[in-house]
Amino acid sequence: MRIIVFVTLAAGIALAETPVDFQRQVRPILSDNCFHCHGPDRTTRMANLRLDTREGAFAPRKQGAAIVPGQPAASLILERIRHQDPARVMPPPQSHKKISAQQQQILTRWIAQGAPWQEHWAFQQPAKPSLPTVRNTQWPRSPLDQLLLARIEAAGLTPAPEADRRPRPHRSPAPTRRRRSLRHRPRPGRLRKARRPLPRLPPVRRTPRPLLARRRPLRRHPRPPRR
Ligand code: HEC
Repeated sequence: MRIIVFVTLAAGIALAETPVDFQRQVRPILSDNCFHCHGPDRTTRMANLRLDTREGAFAPRKQGAAIVPGQPAASLILERIRHQDPARVMPPPQSHKKISAQQQQILTRWIAQGAPWQEHWAFQQPAKPSLPTVRNTQWPRSPLDQLLLARIEAAGLTPAPEADRRPRPHRSPAPTRRRRSLRHRPRPGRLRKARRPLPRLPPVRRTPRPLLARRRPLRRHPRPPRR
């Protein structure tokens, strides 16, 4: 328990310094909770406020601006999300949406960090990131490892030890007994007969004989129910 608390605390402290990722952390909060009334759809848009575009979110309004980069206290969205009056709070209670304390914290940190508004990665020009410094310089074998390790260390974790390279013995699945056909439901009197061992495959020479001796042909499919 203590370890969990410690790890969470360490992760919390480390995360306070890491920049908030707009696309991954901020935009989903806004799109889930606000876009229905402040998004691209003109027919459901309220207060003529768009929060899905940079222009809309930063545009000056009568009371200020929805988002004022670097100034969480001046940003209308935070004021309205934290509002005590149910008639003013955003999202409105009747929308049955709610912003958690953690999501509020993400929005606040993002605005405090200057509210960087990146386009979706698919529209961004790829750029080579500079490699972060890591404490355990022995672990990374490639630049990719270094990126991973930086994130692992930021979360207060350490990489798991390397897995054994020896291949694991491959176990074949347990041999299954050939199942009797599902449609074969012996009546109680026939139970003993039904318990006879199943004919093996491929058939031995004498197997077909009792089969051929049957008067009725073998049914391949269950009979349709009688009406
Ligand atoms: C169910 C519809 C609905 C949802 C969802 C909603 N809003 Fe609103 N919002 C409104 C309406 C209606 C108004 C105008 C009335 C008012 O000011 O309360 C408004 C007004 C605002 C204003 C004030 C604009 C101004 O200039 O006065 C802000 C800021 C705002 N919303 C932010 C948000 C944020 C942030 C979210 C998501 C967390 C959100 N809203 C979700 C309906 C909604």
